[in-house]
Parts: sequence; C-alpha cells; structure tokens
Amino acid sequence: MGKDKKMILAAKKTILAIDTSCDDTSVAVLEGNRVLANVVASQTAIHQQYGGVFPTLAKQAHQENIEACVQLALQRAGLSNKLKIRDHIDAVAVTVGPGLAPALEVGIKHAKKLAKQWQLPIIAINHIEAHALSPLLSPKTKRQNREIDFPVLALVISGGHSEFILIKQIGNYQRLGWTVDDSAGECLDKVGRMLDLGYPAGAILEKLAKKGNPNLWSLPLAMTSVDNFNLSFSGLKTASSQLINQVKKQKQLDGQTVCDLAATVQQQVFSQIIYKLERILFSPDLSKKVYPKAQLIKKIKQQKTKAAVTDINEIWLGGGVAANITLRTSIRQTLKTYQKLSGKKIKLHLPYHKKFCADNAAMIALTAQFSSEQSKNTNAQLIDRQANLKIGTFCQAC
Ligand code: KG4
Ligand code: ZN
Repeated sequence: MGKDKKMILAAKKTILAIDTSCDDTSVAVLEGNRVLANVVASQTAIHQQYGGVFPTLAKQAHQENIEACVQLALQRAGLSNKLKIRDHIDAVAVTVGPGLAPALEVGIKHAKKLAKQWQLPIIAINHIEAHALSPLLSPKTKRQNREIDFPVLALVISGGHSEFILIKQIGNYQRLGWTVDDSAGECLDKVGRMLDLGYPAGAILEKLAKKGNPNLWSLPLAMTSVDNFNLSFSGLKTASSQLINQVKKQKQLDGQTVCDLAATVQQQVFSQIIYKLERILFSPDLSKKVYPKAQLIKKIKQQKTKAAVTDINEIWLGGGVAANITLRTSIRQTLKTYQKLSGKKIKLHLPYHKKFCADNAAMIALTAQFSSEQSKNTNAQLIDRQANLKIGTFCQAC
C-alpha cells in the first residue's frame, strides 16, 4: 500500500450534479470541492405514511421537482443566465447507482437533457463512492486544501448501505466489509416504525436514546464468530421486534420505556459497527486478511502489549447515520483506545455539515471532480441506471 500524500482537488471544475437515487431530489453546483449551491427537495412527507420509500411515488415526485431544483441551484450559485452557464459550468454529473431504479432513471434522463442542451460532458457517479468522499466537501467561503493521508478507511453507514471501504487512492477502492442483509439505517427505521416514531426514525431514536437506559435488556451482537469485516442487522431487527412485543405485553409503552428501548437498539446497532471497526484497526495485515480473534482487543488491553500498527491513516464517515453524535463519539473513543495501544493517531473526518451526511448532490459533484478526467469521453447514450452498483466496480459508461 502506498503512503503517498496527495493535495486534494488541484482541478477546480464547476460541476452541476443531480442525485435522485432514493427519496430526495437534489441538485448541486460545486467549484472544486466548494459547495456553491445544494438544493434538496425532500419527499419525507409523501413516504411517511408507508413507513418506507414507495418507488412509484418517488419517481413521480422527482419528475415534478427536478427542473425547479436545477433552476434554484443555478440561481443560488449565481449562474442563472445562459451565458453564465456556458462560461462557467464544465460538466454535468449524475448518480447512476446504486439506488431505486425508477428514481435513478429520472435524474439520468434530466442530466442527459441538460448536457445536450449545454453541450457539456456528462459524468456517471457511484452514490456509495460519493458518500465515502463526502468529508472532502468544503463550504463556499473556505478552500479546504488539506492533504489526504492515504490509505483512508471510509465508513458509509446509511439507510441503504453499511460498508467499510479502504481508499488506497481516490478511485482505488477495496470493499473490506458490508452488510450481508439490512443496513444500519434500515434497522433503526424499522424499530422506529414499531415504536410509532415516524419515518425515517434514526434522528428521532437518537434524541430519545439520550434519555434512555441502554442496559435494561440485552440484544444479540451479530457477526462476532465470523472471521471477516461484514455486518448483519436483520437478526437484530427481529430480536428488537420480539423485545418490543415482549415489553408491550408486560406494560404500556410509556415515554421512558420508549426511550429505554431506543437506547438499547441504537447501542446494539453501533456496537456491531464499532466491533468490526476495532477488528479492522487491530488486524495486523489487511491484505492477507489475518483477522484477530474475537478476544484479541480485550487481551491486548489486559496484557498492556502494543497493538500492531495499521496502515490506515484517516477515517472518513459518511451516510445518513453518520449524523448521529453517539456513533461519532464511539468512533472517536475507539480511535483514542487504538492510539493508546498502538501509539498511532488516526483522525476522524466528517462532512462539514450534518446535511451532507444524508443524500445530497454536492457529494456527487465532488466525486465527479475526480472522475472527470477519466470519463470526459463518456458517451451519454451508454449512461444507464445501475440499481445494484457496488463501489470498486466501474459503471458501464466510464
Ligand atoms: O444517506 P441517507 O440519507 O440515505 C441513504 O442513502 O440511505 O440515510 C438515511 C438513513 C435513514 O435510515 C435515517 O433514519 C438515518 O439515515 N439517519 C440517522 C440519523 N439521521 C438520519 N440515523 C441515526 N442517527 C441520526 N441522527
Ligand atoms: Zn445515500
């Protein structure tokens, strides 16, 4: 693994990007990594009654909102007339996957239309890669020219994904671990629905969990006996549902009990993420996939021996669940423990504002800054939705 440090974003292209991967219609304009505009039309009110995203309604709402979002983004970026668009915008970028196929389709169709109208290249972007790179976004007023110390470990924890990605260089990714079933956000949302907290429930659960006791009941910690970095939340979802039903039989769900349940489930979701993060950090050789045994970390602590020094130099956290302060604190705590045991400091980097944890087109435009050279000859006709696109695999059009 190289130890090259790289100055970010020598290129300062101005890119308009569209993301319609799920239930938010988002359009952004970036110059380099600076966010000039980021417009999000939320569909939460539409989908709330279904307790999840209804694909046909998502498609319809994207179609209704997209042009207004484009116009508003251009206006906020100070590019509302045709001359300014021609002089300033270098490319149009769009999410091609992963996501809901009917929803992706709307953004891709509109991006093609704009690229044709403005005679600009179109850049196909992977939504997970964009979440992984989201900590590199910078506000309009600042130019964040910091160095990246590769390799970086990215944690993308959202409603659709839960992945550990090793970033050797931008564009060179290795998926270290991923969920084998549900995502962390999906588990939190399901529990929120069972507790009648509305949809999506992650942020509400976070608030309630602060007032709750996470240690009144115990829930299973999954994936501890497998020697890999994968995650699984479907068992926890079922166990949480059984626990809630059991508590409901015993007593009425008063406010405090709901807080206690929220704290219990949230703690167990994050415990699994932290458990696997510790495994990644304490594993002496990632390339050989030599994993520490489940008790390794405990042993190191007891014997006060030094932990092996990992190659990883930075951790980047992205995705909707990354907005959670308890998760952020737990990761910082893990990194502190790691520093004590190994002598190595690893810094945690987050999107500069919580709104960039959730789905947004700013992260799509940012990712396009890096891909624009390799994909500038992209044939717009080849760009198509790829609902199950993974990170590390190239989209057909690139
Ligand atoms: O990244 P995102 O907006 O969409 C996907 O790409 O999936 O993530 C949405 C997820 C939802 O599951 C939502 O409940 C969760 O992020 N979420 C949170 C918080 N805010 C949003 N989970 C925990 N704590 C939060 N503060
Ligand atoms: Zn997302």
